[in-house]
Amino acid sequence: MRGLFITLEGGDGAGKSTQIRNIEKFFEEKGMTVTHTREPGGTPIGEKLRSILLDPANTEMEAVTEMLIYAAARSQHVRETVLPALERGEVVICDRFVDSSIAYQAYGRNLGSMVAEVNGHATGGLRPDITIWLDIDPETGRARATRDSGPDRLESESTAFHTRVREGYASMAEAEPDRFKRVDASGSVEEIKDEIYKLLEDLCLVRGL
Ligand code: TMP
Repeated sequence: MRGLFITLEGGDGAGKSTQIRNIEKFFEEKGMTVTHTREPGGTPIGEKLRSILLDPANTEMEAVTEMLIYAAARSQHVRETVLPALERGEVVICDRFVDSSIAYQAYGRNLGSMVAEVNGHATGGLRPDITIWLDIDPETGRARATRDSGPDRLESESTAFHTRVREGYASMAEAEPDRFKRVDASGSVEEIKDEIYKLLEDLCLVRGL
């Protein structure tokens, strides 16, 4: 039996972590086993690559290098964590997946179609059952984000970069409306949760869960 693969996307301050906890609750209440993981990361190797990727000191990192390290972390994550959990029939909730590379590296860094090609190898063709994009305009997101430490390497990028990232997500929502669902993240936590729960109920109906 194959489980369910759910991914969350969105910029800084969109409220991803809070909604991931709500999604976990949704499936746990149905008696399903949930694996919660993230990219970059989700494995010991991936977490090491994550700290290289996000370290603000790595100012010299080339765009292609960055894209390949994200893909390397993903390859390990898919094979070591995600596929085994799906094969056990679990619900895998992943904070970011390939669509982040399309948005940040293909659009944000202007790397174009090579990103999808490399990531086809990284994932072995694995696709999410549903992707929830918490859409917020970059300035609002930035103002909302609260953290103890300063911004990481990607968060420190310009508003123009984050606007290209958002355009990338918007074009994915247009190209794949069945999988890639935009949720307006400017509303309250409860409003966002209700919209996500509706999408999950629909998915469960289709999958007979
Ligand atoms: P996080 O802040 O959601 O933990 O994600 C880490 C940062 O890495 C975030 O700024 C988005 C970025 N990122 C990419 O640029 N490409 C990717 O493929 C992934 C997974 C994340």
